[in-house]
Amino acid sequence: MSDALRTLIARRIRDRGPLTVAAFMEMALYHPDLGYYARAPRRTGRAGDFYTSVDVGPQFGALLAAQIDEMRRLHAAAGGAGFDLVEAGAGNGQLARDVLDAAESAHPALHAAARLTLVETSPAARAAHPATLGRHRDRLHASTPALPDRVSGVIVANELLDALPTHAVTMTADGLREVYVDADGGRFVERAGPPSSPALERYLDRLGVTPRPGWRGEVNLAAVDWVRAAARRLTRGFLVLVDYGHPARELYAGRHASGTLTTFQRHLVDAASADPDGRGGPAWLADPGDRDITSHVDFTSIELAARDEGLEVLGSVDQTRFLLGLGALDDPAAAADTAGALRHRLALKTLLAPGGLGGTHRVLMLGKGVGRPALKGCSFTWREAAS
Ligand SMILES: C[S@@+](CC[C@H](N)C(=O)[O-])C[C@H]1O[C@@H](n2cnc3c(N)ncnc32)[C@H](O)[C@@H]1O
Repeated sequence: MSDALRTLIARRIRDRGPLTVAAFMEMALYHPDLGYYARAPRRTGRAGDFYTSVDVGPQFGALLAAQIDEMRRLHAAAGGAGFDLVEAGAGNGQLARDVLDAAESAHPALHAAARLTLVETSPAARAAHPATLGRHRDRLHASTPALPDRVSGVIVANELLDALPTHAVTMTADGLREVYVDADGGRFVERAGPPSSPALERYLDRLGVTPRPGWRGEVNLAAVDWVRAAARRLTRGFLVLVDYGHPARELYAGRHASGTLTTFQRHLVDAASADPDGRGGPAWLADPGDRDITSHVDFTSIELAARDEGLEVLGSVDQTRFLLGLGALDDPAAAADTAGALRHRLALKTLLAPGGLGGTHRVLMLGKGVGRPALKGCSFTWREAAS
């Protein structure tokens, strides 16, 4: 499969010159017929290339349902009519399924009110939505590749922003340069060139970031644009973004001075600089269409863009604190000596333990037209701060 995409990308480079990393990622991940995400309903989990919190089990969705139910009540109290539940980057719909399963038993008013829209660019994933939702399929209002024009309720996105095509830049003695993908014989290679847009330098300037020569990093203009678009469409309610990432001061400093561009294939991870098979190129350039390519999210720029569009920042916590605040350890049945309870505890460990998904992932909660409510998902931070 990747041969056809390789040929297409090579032809595009021959005709129009080297591609930005963002343009390469757009083709490798999202080409309508050959792209990595376009071709399969689900790319994660044991049979896929990497795990998200959704693959760990239904626990993440069940806890998220508690947060969404609180948001539903706050939305109604602020005068919101109806309740749109929009999941963006929904994959095959498994997270929505987990949320609705939990809502059915624990938050019936949410289950009854939710007008569900699953936003997903992959046609294969969209086709799977009704089957994944199963008995909840009558809650599905729309399964669509683009955000609805108006949303009154909640928009949730788990691991969407990291999957959006990013630019890569590097600082040299002569100033900022952009990383491009060029063709060299039968393989793709990196080449530095002038920035493709003044927006790249503006982005770093706004953050007050002045990298030293030798530094390399990502500038994800698409992630910022996506947040702006989501904020504009939200008439009243909340935007919940869960992803791995950092504040800009961490992302653009020492530990990440070689960037965070990463590729996953069958649960093997390679950083941008790795050349695992000695073929002379970084792993993310090999096999376009057959591997995930991702980068860490710059949460500072996401917050700035959200504020620009009139959203309030209601909370920004790591996933461990978010889930603990929602009662991850409060279920007495979880202490039972049964196989089910053991599985439940193991799943929570994966979601919460330092070094696991809880430590790497952050949850950013934003609001519009709902005041500045204290949210359950942030409550663990306060208890801790008070002690
Ligand atoms: C890393 S996967 C996460 C899937 C799911 N949210 C989960 O946590 O398991 C990212 C998903 O976002 C989808 N996607 C990428 N860009 C998108 C966009 N602009 N709008 C909606 N979905 C998008 C991809 O096709 C893919 O299914």
